[in-house]
Amino acid sequence: MRRESMAFKTDDDQIFGKAYDSRLVKRLLRYVRPYRSLIFMSIGFLLVSSACHLAGPYLIKVSIDDYISARDMIGLSQIALIYFTILIARFIFQFSEIYITQYVGQHIMYDLRREIFAYLQKLPLVYFDRNPVGRLITRVTSDVDALNEAVSSGMIAIFGNIFSITGIVVIMLWMDWKLALVTFAVLPFLFTIAFLFKVKVRILFREVRGRLAVINSFLQENITGMHIVQLFNREHENFRRFDAVNKEYLQANLDTIFHFAIFFPAVRLLSVFAIALIIWYGGGRIIHETLTFGILIGFIQYAELFYRPIQELSEKYNIFQSAMASSERIFKLLDEPVAIDSKPTAHPITLFQHEIEFRHVWFAYDRDNFVLEDVCFTIGKGESIAIVGATGSGKTTIISLLCRFYDVNKGQILIDGIDIRDYDLHQLRQMTAIVLQDVFLFSGTIEENIRLGNREFNSDRTRRAAEQTRANPFIQKLPNGYNQEVKERGGSLSVGQRQLLSFSRALAFDPQILILDEATSNIDTETEILIQEGINELMKNRTSIIIAHRLSTIKHVDRIIAIHKGIIREIGCHDALLANKGIYYKLYQLQYKEQKWA
Ligand SMILES: Nc1ncnc2c1ncn2[C@@H]1O[C@H](COP(=O)(O)OP(=O)(O)OP(=O)(O)O)[C@@H](O)[C@H]1O
Ligand SMILES: [Mg+2]
Repeated sequence: MRRESMAFKTDDDQIFGKAYDSRLVKRLLRYVRPYRSLIFMSIGFLLVSSACHLAGPYLIKVSIDDYISARDMIGLSQIALIYFTILIARFIFQFSEIYITQYVGQHIMYDLRREIFAYLQKLPLVYFDRNPVGRLITRVTSDVDALNEAVSSGMIAIFGNIFSITGIVVIMLWMDWKLALVTFAVLPFLFTIAFLFKVKVRILFREVRGRLAVINSFLQENITGMHIVQLFNREHENFRRFDAVNKEYLQANLDTIFHFAIFFPAVRLLSVFAIALIIWYGGGRIIHETLTFGILIGFIQYAELFYRPIQELSEKYNIFQSAMASSERIFKLLDEPVAIDSKPTAHPITLFQHEIEFRHVWFAYDRDNFVLEDVCFTIGKGESIAIVGATGSGKTTIISLLCRFYDVNKGQILIDGIDIRDYDLHQLRQMTAIVLQDVFLFSGTIEENIRLGNREFNSDRTRRAAEQTRANPFIQKLPNGYNQEVKERGGSLSVGQRQLLSFSRALAFDPQILILDEATSNIDTETEILIQEGINELMKNRTSIIIAHRLSTIKHVDRIIAIHKGIIREIGCHDALLANKGIYYKLYQLQYKEQKWA
């Protein structure tokens, strides 16, 4: 039975179509091409080892008819020696074939995983908004795996199977065509069973995979949300729901097993029946002395060898079918346009000189649902500005646009008078450091998380950054200090500590433009003071854009932009905006009240 992979499968992963699609195969062959000499070698070895396999029964026939019946001991020993040599040769060729085939399969998988990962990193964030993580993981793991299976146990083995079947048919006809035809009498039954089985198993496999997909997404959701499950005492209810999908999966598997349990013995039964036919008809001819005993034994052995390749061929269909579906999905990913990229004529940008300008910027995540409408403002070099506004008003969106995570729909964002889409993307992003609302930590040590794999940074630089942003004291207190492993995306660190760490990360990179998206979470006053000091340190002599929820953070910035439902409503300094008695004034009043209550 085909090994089922346990990776996540989602609904669109259930599409199955042809087992052979010339367009896909052509493209797949591109990955196979670098290894073509190995593949030909492997096919060659396979054919030789199959030939050795087929020689066995014939040698037995010869030894019975020519040597045993003639009581020729020397001849018999010679045949035994040849038989033994062929066995050893078969072992060597089979080993080489298996090893080379798997070697090629693994290398093709390695190449594909590299290509997919490199491509994933280039894709625009919109793509990740649309595609759940589980589905993308499936692309790199089980889809690639399905292709490997098609190469290693499908493509090459098929030559061996066809060679064996043809070989046996030819040898049988050549040895005794009448007995051969009698043996072939069971073939129509065999083909019918194999065909019915193929059709049924296709449906059942799809069912099994569908059920597994449900279990996987259920598990993924419930494990990530375990704290909510426990907090709201949903264990019992969730267990009941899990049990239901688990039962369906069990049933689908049992149905499949039932068909396999019928198919294999049925094939076996037919092959035994064929042998009985051979003995009955062949035995009769031996009695009438029109057949030798050796041929009878040879036939019985060939009949035994005959069924395996036929059975294997009927299983190949599934392998190719899922390989086609997998390759279709992989190619769809690789064909996804890289919407955000540097133009070939991109301007280099290493130093930002004058100003950043948002000029009539409109933006929508989905078609016409504008999240930003006609946003205009400028930030001079060295200036610090703050963006304030209610939740969902479009603050994070503004900075995502500046970093070109998304491109604007209408209008322009300019740095020193040149549209950011005309700059080299890599250099543009190198100028800015961004501290996001939810700090993302990678698995690795604290120091690695500050450096983010940047080889130029030495320990001194990371430590200095941590000291300046006030992260040093808490890092020192960790059992392993800077070498402490960050587990589970930093779950062992508090929200405030993660913030401080992300400040250190930003400062270590010493960006020309600093972007800070402040977390909304409540933190104690002591940490708040630390964070405030950290922010001040970051902003020193730097062009900065701060999205602040605690208005105390932004009193000192040069200008404040108040945004409401994607439209800029007020721009000015703290005092001017308060005097204006608009949105900023209202936000300020609200917070002031909150603080009094606290
Ligand atoms: N990836 C996305 N896909 C679709 N819509 C999005 C996406 N991100 C944000 N939005 C929508 O865009 C609007 C603005 O979101 P944005 O994240 O810019 O708000 P915000 O001002 O940063 O809010 P907060 O203060 O809560 O961080 C919201 O209505 C939000 O639902
Ligand atoms: Mg936000």
